[in-house]
Amino acid sequence: MNRKTLTQYLVEQQRTHQTVPAEVRLLIETVARACKAIGHAVSKGALGGVLGSLDSENVQGEVQKKLDVLSNEILLEANEWGGHLAAMASEEMETLHRIPNRYPKGEYLLLFDPLDGSSNIDVNVSIGTIFSVLHAPHDAPGRDIEESDFLQPGSQQVAAGYAVYGPQSMLVLTLGNGVAAFTLDREMGSWLLTEENLTIPEDTSEFAINMSNMRHWEPPVKRYIDDCLAGSTGPLGKDYNMRWIASMVADVHRIMTRGGIFMYPRDERPSGKKGKLRLMYEANPMAFIVEQAGGAALDGEARILDVKPQALHQRIGVVLGSKNEVERVRRYHQED
Ligand code: AHG
Ligand code: MN
Ligand code: MN
Ligand code: MN
Repeated sequence: MNRKTLTQYLVEQQRTHQTVPAEVRLLIETVARACKAIGHAVSKGALGGVLGSLDSENVQGEVQKKLDVLSNEILLEANEWGGHLAAMASEEMETLHRIPNRYPKGEYLLLFDPLDGSSNIDVNVSIGTIFSVLHAPHDAPGRDIEESDFLQPGSQQVAAGYAVYGPQSMLVLTLGNGVAAFTLDREMGSWLLTEENLTIPEDTSEFAINMSNMRHWEPPVKRYIDDCLAGSTGPLGKDYNMRWIASMVADVHRIMTRGGIFMYPRDERPSGKKGKLRLMYEANPMAFIVEQAGGAALDGEARILDVKPQALHQRIGVVLGSKNEVERVRRYHQED
C-alpha cells in the first residue's frame, strides 16, 4: 500500500487550504525532521549516553535531563537557518530565542516542549515533543521580537503537533483542518500518513489523573473522581478505568486514539494554584489538536484556547478529551 508522506500531505493541505502557505509547510517539515533526530537519540538510551540528569535547573525549577537540553538544541539548530521563523520559545529556555542576524527572519513563532515526560526518560516509558506555531506580529521584520509577541491566545495558533517516541514513533499534527497522524518508517526515515482524520470518541469511561494529588484537589474534581470510583452503582452509572503514564503526549495520544479524559487540574497547593502544565507549549497545542479531533479542552471551566496568556511560562489547569466527559466535569465546577 502506497502511503502518503508528510510532504505529500502538506502539499495537498497547501493546495486545498489558504491557511497553509509554503512557509508553514517548510516549517512543519523542519520540525518533523528534528523530531526524527530527537526520537533517534531517545532510542539509543544508555548506548547513546543520553540518560540521566545534568546539574542544571530550568526556568521551571526542574532538574534538567540530558535529553531535555539535547532535544532543545536539536530544535533550535534545525529551525534557525530556514528563514521561516522570527523567534522561538521553549520550556527549557528562560526567555525567547531570537533568530541570529546571519539568518533571514520569517513570519512565524515556534514554541515547544522539546522533551515531554522527562521523568520517564530513564525508565524507558514513552516520551515526546510538543510544538505550537503562531504568527509573528506584522511589524515583526522591522524590530526585535519581544516575549509579549508570543502571548497570543491558543485560538491564534496556525498549527500544532506532537511526536510520541514509543513502540512506534508517531507525529500527530493539525493545521486547523482536522488532525492527521504519521508513523515513522525507520528504514526509509519517512513520516508516513497512517490516519487522515483522527476523531476522539465523544464518550468515555477512562480517566487519567495523578491520584496522589487527591488531597490537594478543588472540591469539584474530588466529587467527580469520587463519582467515577463509585462505578455502576454510583451517580454516573458506569464503571470507570484509570490510566496515568505521566507523559502528557502518551496520555493524550491514548485519548486521541480511543477516547478518555485527561486531567491535571489546578489544586489548592501554592505550587498548584495555577496548575502544573504550561499554557503556551503544552496546554495550547494539545487543546488545539483535541478540539480539531472533536474533543474539548478546558482549564476546568473556561476554554483553554480562549485564555489570554500573561507570561511565557504560565501554568494552567487542564481537563481535556472526550467532549461529553469534559462537559460533565465543567458541570461539576458549575455546581460549586
Ligand atoms: P515535562 O516532562 O515536559 O516537564 O512535562 C511533564 C508533565 C506532563 O508530561 C505530564 O502529564 C505531567 O508532567 C506528569 O506530572 P506528574 O509527574 O506530577 O504526574
Ligand atoms: Mn511537558
Ligand atoms: Mn519538557
Ligand atoms: Mn520539564
